[in-house]
Amino acid sequence: MKVLSVVGARPQFIKEKPLSVELRKKCDEVLVHTGQHYDMEMSRIFFDELKIPEPDYNLGIGSDTSARQIARMIAALGKVLRKEKPDAVVVFGDTNSTTAGALAASAAGIQLAHIEAGMRSFNLEMPEEINRVITDNVSQLLFAPTKTAVKNLEREKLSGKIFLVGDVMFDAFRQNIGIAEKKSKVLEDKCLERKKFFYLTVHRASNTDIKRNLAGILGAVTAIEGTVFFPVHPRTGKALKEHGLMEKLKKSENIVLSKPVGYLDSLVLTKNAVKVLTDSGGLQKEAFFAGTPCVSLREEKEWVETFHGNWNILAGTSKEKIVRAVRARTSGKKGAFFGNGHAAKRIVKIITGLDSY
Ligand code: UD1
Ligand code: UDP
Repeated sequence: MKVLSVVGARPQFIKEKPLSVELRKKCDEVLVHTGQHYDMEMSRIFFDELKIPEPDYNLGIGSDTSARQIARMIAALGKVLRKEKPDAVVVFGDTNSTTAGALAASAAGIQLAHIEAGMRSFNLEMPEEINRVITDNVSQLLFAPTKTAVKNLEREKLSGKIFLVGDVMFDAFRQNIGIAEKKSKVLEDKCLERKKFFYLTVHRASNTDIKRNLAGILGAVTAIEGTVFFPVHPRTGKALKEHGLMEKLKKSENIVLSKPVGYLDSLVLTKNAVKVLTDSGGLQKEAFFAGTPCVSLREEKEWVETFHGNWNILAGTSKEKIVRAVRARTSGKKGAFFGNGHAAKRIVKIITGLDSY
């Protein structure tokens, strides 16, 4: 059996790793990188650190408007699909590379598997929400990471088959946290003391493209007592300059700015931060896995399970709400909502037809 996996953005490289290990035990995998992310710190570093197999194809699409980026990806993927003739296509998450992979596979009449199916914010202004809905609608195999995702899919009465398999990001976390703690030197290199700093990431379109939102987040983090480590996503770096916010940020004494870090450093930062402040879906979960409280710089929840017991607090972009959330106490026990760390194994069993479905 031949399975073609499509990746393109930072979180997809991380999700691909546990899947590719399992896939390659049972069948041939063709790996396609769309080129959506291309900077060394946004792409290469993940392949090197995680020893992800070299992509068989890099489509080199790069940055563009969403419509043109998706259209160019679909055209290029169509060519690869015609040449490789895989039995199934796998796509991950909710980026433009996900939608392009999904539409290219469905146009070619190839079975499509969506990993992280059923996630919903119920906000169709988010580009990711549109990507999720489109992809789930054309998938035959819907691999849901949580019970909430299953419920979302059932409500929509989609034609694909739903499987509750757990979260491949939990697989990746379990497989890499020990390695990260041994290998990463990020705390020493950045002079960060364990449990004496906050870890901040921001990249959502609504937080970068709207100046008021970005300014609200920065107003809050510069007012926090304590060091804030902030690896800046390239989209955010551009927005900070365009909105004229970069110079002020550079002058803030408690903010440590950095290029985006690798996954191993990110895990160590997450584990050792007082709190994680983020609009990232992946980081909200990793904070939960690591037992570090999180403040979500978002207006809506997708990973609703992480909000139990105040482990994650929805704070949006208002300075007052963020500062209050940073001070809030976390209570209660964390449940096990994301599977047993073997989601990839289960997914591969199903794709290769070894599991009954
Ligand atoms: C994309 C996904 C988002 C995901 C995120 C992970 C979509 C619509 N969005 O957002 O869901 O959470 O990836 O990080 O697919 N850029 C660079 N170098 C790079 C990549 C991007 O400079 O290697 C800059 C470009 O100016 C580009 C901008 O960042 O226009 C945005 O990149 P893009 O891939 O369109 O979206 P992300 O914000 O990264
Ligand atoms: N991450 C990273 N370096 C960083 C910031 C994040 O390796 O500088 C990792 C993080 O640990 C998580 C993933 O990137 O595993 C999340 O990706 P991102 O926030 O870009 O996208 P999202 O999950 O929101 O789609």
